[in-house]
Amino acid sequence: MKSSVNALILAAGLGTRMKSSQAKVLHKLGSHPLIARALRAAAELEPENIFVVVGHQAGKVEEAARASVRPADVEKLRFVMQSEQLGTGHAVKCASDALKNISGRLVVFYGDTPAVKAETLRKLVSEHERAGNAATLITIRIDPPPAYGRIIRSGRDGQGDFLKIVEERDCSPEERAVTELNPGFYCFEIAPLLDALEKLSPHNAQNEYYLTDVPQRMLEAGLRVNTVFHDDASELDGVNTRAELAAMWKRLRRETIDRLMTDGVTIVDPDSTYIDDTVEIGRDTVIHPQVIIEGDSRIGGHCEIHSWSRLVNVEIGDECKILNSCVIVTSKLAARNTVGPFAHLRLHTELAEEATIGNFVEVKKSRLGRKTKSMHLTYLGDATVGDRVNIGAGTVTCNYDGKQKNPTFIEDDVKIGSDTMLVAPVRVGRGSVTGAGSVVIKDVAPDSLVAGVPAQLKKKLKE
Ligand code: UD1
Ligand code: CA
Repeated sequence: MKSSVNALILAAGLGTRMKSSQAKVLHKLGSHPLIARALRAAAELEPENIFVVVGHQAGKVEEAARASVRPADVEKLRFVMQSEQLGTGHAVKCASDALKNISGRLVVFYGDTPAVKAETLRKLVSEHERAGNAATLITIRIDPPPAYGRIIRSGRDGQGDFLKIVEERDCSPEERAVTELNPGFYCFEIAPLLDALEKLSPHNAQNEYYLTDVPQRMLEAGLRVNTVFHDDASELDGVNTRAELAAMWKRLRRETIDRLMTDGVTIVDPDSTYIDDTVEIGRDTVIHPQVIIEGDSRIGGHCEIHSWSRLVNVEIGDECKILNSCVIVTSKLAARNTVGPFAHLRLHTELAEEATIGNFVEVKKSRLGRKTKSMHLTYLGDATVGDRVNIGAGTVTCNYDGKQKNPTFIEDDVKIGSDTMLVAPVRVGRGSVTGAGSVVIKDVAPDSLVAGVPAQLKKKLKE
């Protein structure tokens, strides 16, 4: 029987070097917290359980973790509390009770290494299984070495078998010169891991229980420990400072943009374009400089997104044009829409095909029908607008009566005159017209012309 795979991510530390009141793993790369990417990589291993060791701001870290994985993976999350941070070995030990009940192997890594690819974790597990090890760890080489644990090997040339990991602060001068390093990715057999954790002691420069001592304890117990070398050291970088956070975001952004360009998206200026790795964009869409696209956004093909626009959690169909300086949040555009410049769409706004939103128009929680236009200086909130409606400049849906938000309904083929105030709840019937400056305080029957303050029926347009 194939032995089960489980994952464990350490995320209890505050991250002293961030100089922050916020736990390190909650700091964001684009719009996602650091821990999100580590978790997503772990989830791709299709493990039975994903343990997350939490401590500082445990509640918020748990919430962020749940929001980071696909709904199907949420039930795999098992949170383990480490109230006092006594070291990475102690953190894993906090999960002992839960781990005692399962068998198989455990992939352990740190929540502050967000660029790791699932294929790298897979390589670690398959090498572990192939060699039949009790522990397998990834090693990298960086010269000169940063403050990582050093990989110490046997033999006079130090090129022999793996012996132990020595933390930089505990290194002798010779050990410090070693350039083979521990990036912090381990695969353990669970039973011998639990035994080795019992044998850790905090006799070191930081007075901590080091996870990095576990492989040595296993070797002393006569078990097999081996390493897998990984070429791309920067993929496994840990984020410890704000400068490293910014460098990591730059690196991940570049990876996303390269992927999009490979898939046929034009990115006019990759250096000034900010796109989350969770964003999908179709072929022949052009993204102009200084655009920001965040969250779970999907943009179709043959679209054009102009400079200084920010799109968050949007769904945009094919052939849409977003002109300069628009903010579009949690909204859905069908196909061939034009929006902007300087438009604000938010809170579940939906545009049907070929709708046009012009400058200085805000649309909140509203639905606009096909070929409907609102070109200038307008607020539409809680409105349901039909097809082929024209909304004149300066129109306002007066949706808030001081206590609650009220809906406005504008049916198909209506023409709303400039500066119309629609005092909700109100309905303007199909084919009607409101005169410029009307204040509409009661429903307008279909095919009617109303005007004035408050708006009165002037004539029936059709009987
Ligand atoms: C660790 C490794 C080091 C390695 C480096 C790679 C140890 C002792 N050292 O050092 O060999 O080269 O990562 O990035 O493991 N954490 C807890 N509880 C604790 C302590 C830490 O959950 O009691 C978590 C932190 O939140 C963090 C992670 O473990 O996400 C790593 O801790 P950190 O202090 O950053 O370890 P490094 O000093 O970077
Ligand atoms: Ca670290």
